[in-house]
Amino acid sequence: MQFRDLAKQYEALKHDIDQAMLTVASQSHYIMGPQVKELEEQLAAYTGVKHCLSCANGTDALTLALKAWGIGPGDAVFVPDFTFFSSAEVVALEGATPLFVDVDSTTYNIDTNSLETVIKQTLADGKLTPKVIVAVDLFGLPANYPQVKAIANKYNLLILEDGAQGFGGSIKGKKACSFGDISTTSFFPAKPLGCYGDGGAVFTDNDEWAALMNSYRVHGKGDNKYDNVRIGMNSRLDTMQAAILQVKLRAFDDEVERVNEAAQHYTRLLKGHVQTPVIPEGFGSSWAQYTIQLNDTAQRDRLQQALKQAGIPSMVYYPKTMHQQLAFEGITQPVCCEDFVAKKLSATVLSLPMHPYIESSEIEYICSTLIEELNK
Ligand SMILES: Cc1ncc(COP(=O)(O)O)c(C=O)c1O
Repeated sequence: MQFRDLAKQYEALKHDIDQAMLTVASQSHYIMGPQVKELEEQLAAYTGVKHCLSCANGTDALTLALKAWGIGPGDAVFVPDFTFFSSAEVVALEGATPLFVDVDSTTYNIDTNSLETVIKQTLADGKLTPKVIVAVDLFGLPANYPQVKAIANKYNLLILEDGAQGFGGSIKGKKACSFGDISTTSFFPAKPLGCYGDGGAVFTDNDEWAALMNSYRVHGKGDNKYDNVRIGMNSRLDTMQAAILQVKLRAFDDEVERVNEAAQHYTRLLKGHVQTPVIPEGFGSSWAQYTIQLNDTAQRDRLQQALKQAGIPSMVYYPKTMHQQLAFEGITQPVCCEDFVAKKLSATVLSLPMHPYIESSEIEYICSTLIEELNK
């Protein structure tokens, strides 16, 4: 059994993907070929956002947003303590200070009470200027943007939606990657919409920021790529990846439906045995992960071992919180992270196999193995 079975997905879409790749090879327009622009238009239409610009990966997408906003030394950027490293790494790379905020114990997404506490502390401290809230759509579920927006408005902050795991999620029908002042995603192969290598994109309704990010992604280009008006990056999506993504985007809504059915099946079987994921009313998840919570690390280790012996892969996303990462020592300011829910989650969460092509019988086998071990 695979944790995320990309080979099964390829089998399902093989004809169109092979065709798309052969077309790129025969056209030989490997960088910024026509499929890149077409894909950007399709992604913009899908999310309902005015501008979509593709780039080399989801980490660069976050960096492009911070560059467009001129975030740098002296700026405070609020980031959930429970996320992938990139969400905060990019802040430090720009010379700004990531300040970690706790997450909600049921949705795993940014906790707006903790957010407001950390913002107030930063203002009282007076050393840094609050600028941006990074809200992460963890495991496929959009953050609580109505609440995040209320706080952003109150303190005049920008929202950067890190939708690396969230593409395909929604709130009241509005699609993920449309909630930030700038939103980003990743096309890493295992993501809800993944390519066959690295890839990413930024989304915004703002013309000025879109133009800046378009420049930053190609060496700070001005009128053309040999006219360089700022120090930028080399962060483009290959034409081959764009062509693959066009095929996958056509199958995407069906795949989101399939993972939602799989998640419901898991929850039906596991409810009452472990803490199952919570999707608030009106929210939709694209289920980048199906993540349960256990009582403690010892129980998690025991269950993971039992799953492994039964040939079932599982993963711990994430075994360390951001504030526990050595890399941030001396970079961030100490806040009250020790009591964070994030710390408990990192000790107790376990992600189970999840993808659009998982069989009901596989889910039943996983759940019965888990329940049997829990009852021992
Ligand atoms: C929440 C989050 N942000 C950012 C990224 C970075 O994306 P990429 O690996 O494409 O750089 C990831 C990738 O795992 C992620 O999960």
